[in-house]
Amino acid sequence: LTRWLTRLSRVLILDPMYCEYAYVLERVIGCQVARLQLSREKSFDLDVERLVERVRATRYDLVIIVNPNSPTGRHAPRVELEAALAAIPTRTRVWIDETYVDFIGSDASLERFAASRRNVVVCKSMSKAMR
Ligand SMILES: Cc1ncc(COP(=O)(O)O)c(C=O)c1O
Repeated sequence: LTRWLTRLSRVLILDPMYCEYAYVLERVIGCQVARLQLSREKSFDLDVERLVERVRATRYDLVIIVNPNSPTGRHAPRVELEAALAAIPTRTRVWIDETYVDFIGSDASLERFAASRRNVVVCKSMSKAMR
């Protein structure tokens, strides 16, 4: 992230979401961070249509999604997310944190989709599902 972003970069994150991202973006890099609020009334589910509308309306350099999200545990289905992300202009990079995706199932990852899109990156961790 520090290679891609400067203090002038605009980044969209979810709220609530794994808090290290906001720390790195705002405190370490100092870029401009906007938040897509997830509401308790909607069980903190990510409304992917709303996400795409927001990204198409504003020139974000980067969007960060944690899927399944932490700390909410909510998961946006792969097919739904792929269709939505395909509608995002390629000038906006999309970072999908799939640290907890193995708890959903073997078909849930957007890795293949990311391999076919130059602006989409999937980030994984070996510290949660692997022991
Ligand atoms: C959503 C999310 N992403 C990334 C990480 C970092 O994982 P690791 O320490 O395995 O790199 C964590 C750790 O708690 C996490 O919850």
